[in-house]
Amino acid sequence: MAAAQTQPFLSDIQTLRKRAREHIAQGAVTPGYHADRDTVLKLLNEALATEIICILRYKRHYYSAKGIHAESVAAEFLEHANEEQQHADQIAERITQLGGEPDFSPDGLSTRSHAEYVEGDSLEEMIKEDLVAERIAIDSYREMVNYLGHEDSTTRRMLEEILAKEEEHADDLASLLQGMGHH
Ligand SMILES: [Fe+2]
Ligand SMILES: [Fe+2]
Repeated sequence: MAAAQTQPFLSDIQTLRKRAREHIAQGAVTPGYHADRDTVLKLLNEALATEIICILRYKRHYYSAKGIHAESVAAEFLEHANEEQQHADQIAERITQLGGEPDFSPDGLSTRSHAEYVEGDSLEEMIKEDLVAERIAIDSYREMVNYLGHEDSTTRRMLEEILAKEEEHADDLASLLQGMGHH
């Protein structure tokens, strides 16, 4: 048919409508979803664990910095904690959209996470540990984005937005370190 010739990459409307009616229980996951769903869900749950660990670490650092009257650094830690919370929520939301179960279990949380929970004894150590964690997150999000390619563009777009925010976080922390005399 003519339409198929001009737009060979699009399914015709009848096929789209028919496919959408099949497997309605799968919600947002249509037969056109070509990514390996189990792998995507596993990766997303690892990312969720990473975000939760980062929330916990930033919260710990926030209260510690407040306790030593480092108010501007504390404010930065709190801002990051809140943004990691938003990331965790976005990721959990996407996991359920894909028909998976977001893993919030404290059992094995730090093993599932890419980044580590390190308390740090001084303000400088806290900032350094946070910077290391952000750099780990940046690399793992970049790998996930590359893995997804065009197979699941919604998940990829979400991860790209999160990746951009983690890069901002790393930059903030590098500036804080520089402000403390590290170049
Ligand atoms: Fe994050
Ligand atoms: Fe971050």
